[in-house]
Amino acid sequence: MNPASVLIVEDDTKLRNALKEIMTREGYAVDATESGDIAVSMIKDTVYDLVITDLKLPGIDGMDVLRSVQKLARDTSVIIITAYATVDTAVEAMKEGAEDYIAKPFNLDEIRLIVRKVLDKKALVDDNRFLRNQLKKKYSFGNLVGNSEAMVEVYKTIEKIKDSRATVLILGETGTGKELVARAIHFNSIRSEKPFLPVNCAALAETLLESELFGYVKGAFTGATRDKQGVFEVAHGGTVFLDEIGDISPRLQQILLRVLENGEIQPVGSTQRKKVDVRVVAATNRNLGEMMKAGAFRADLYYRLNVITLDLPSLREKKEDIATLAGHFLKKYAEENQRPIHGISREALNLFDCYEWPGNVRELENVIERATLLETSKEITAESLPESIRTAPERPFSNPDEDLQTLEEVGRTYIQTVLEKTGGNKARASEILGINRTSLWRMIHRLKIAQ
Ligand SMILES: Nc1ncnc2c1ncn2[C@@H]1O[C@H](COP(=O)(O)OP(=O)(O)OP(=O)(O)O)[C@@H](O)[C@H]1O
Ligand SMILES: [Mg+2]
Repeated sequence: MNPASVLIVEDDTKLRNALKEIMTREGYAVDATESGDIAVSMIKDTVYDLVITDLKLPGIDGMDVLRSVQKLARDTSVIIITAYATVDTAVEAMKEGAEDYIAKPFNLDEIRLIVRKVLDKKALVDDNRFLRNQLKKKYSFGNLVGNSEAMVEVYKTIEKIKDSRATVLILGETGTGKELVARAIHFNSIRSEKPFLPVNCAALAETLLESELFGYVKGAFTGATRDKQGVFEVAHGGTVFLDEIGDISPRLQQILLRVLENGEIQPVGSTQRKKVDVRVVAATNRNLGEMMKAGAFRADLYYRLNVITLDLPSLREKKEDIATLAGHFLKKYAEENQRPIHGISREALNLFDCYEWPGNVRELENVIERATLLETSKEITAESLPESIRTAPERPFSNPDEDLQTLEEVGRTYIQTVLEKTGGNKARASEILGINRTSLWRMIHRLKIAQ
């Protein structure tokens, strides 16, 4: 976190230097000037957390400095120094929006205390405003939260494809929201009044899965005492969500291919085929392309499913959504568990930023739920976070002595290097970078990398 920045406006040189030294020793980034006019132009150029200004100044006085701050930098706090500590001037300054005042002569402890109090209060206000803005700004599609560039791409794609009958394949690591996206597609489509039926293909053995999907007729097997419709028939007019599609057996892959090709199902034990109007959305966190190459997944089915692919970003790839998502889950679980927790401390948010989130959004959701139960203060602090997050390593490149580059700058340079080394081969480059090709493509555009 950056140190708080303070501007001191005091025409008495000795006093100005003394204040500057105290504030610097307290760890603040300090600027100082003897003139109100200069102060006003500095406020225009720089965002200060706090301005400490003498009331009596040659030219523009302290009240004018205060008013300029109110006009130019509403988020900056102001403390007034006055040698004429009549209650009146102090009250007038506070009415105009000053946070506090210091009367001359003053002692150092008093100043330190007042400044700390004002800056702490400001940090809280800033954090809450930040979270509120994040919540307000949230771009949502169904129950999807987050407005990172990667998610906005996802929303745009959903918007484009929702009403088509084409099969959609949703890819992404565990916990990235694949099921939520499948629901968003269905419930925003013209099929929304018809059923949305999810089937977890990994949870059922082959024969059970077959009868679950396509139904069976009486006598098809022991225990089949009457006809039963499968989800493809029940979902007629709606959507079937085939979750964990990478786990279906070769025989079912073949059957499914036929269903997708001619829109007909054949219940187990039946000789009749039935026409069904169903849209299929499938998802997997496995690498279907690799499975296909290895012969574990039929190529023809792969291409059938893959008419439209939605590649969901991992939480690592959309860190700008973390605060929004965390705020969203906090609201949900604080309400659900009736806990009076209103925010997330900056320290906790910093830790979230450093952590890798192997379980993605689901993991973040669980962390927030747990924290709302454990937290005893009004905001989520580091203490109520799991060990793994509290000990997340600081991000690299954070050595304060170096001439620092932004993450984007470092990313741009590195991606450029990799692209050069691979002769512009994006498949190879994305492999080296450990991201998928869609992410690479996105980064090339976002970071405006020349190709
Ligand atoms: N963008 C999002 N906004 C709000 N909640 C989200 C978002 N993404 C994921 N979640 C939440 O995270 C949890 C996991 O999402 P979901 O079950 O859709 O993930 P998944 O990709 O299907 O995971 P898995 O591969 O493990 O099945 C859910 O509780 C979901 O509501
Ligand atoms: Mg899932």
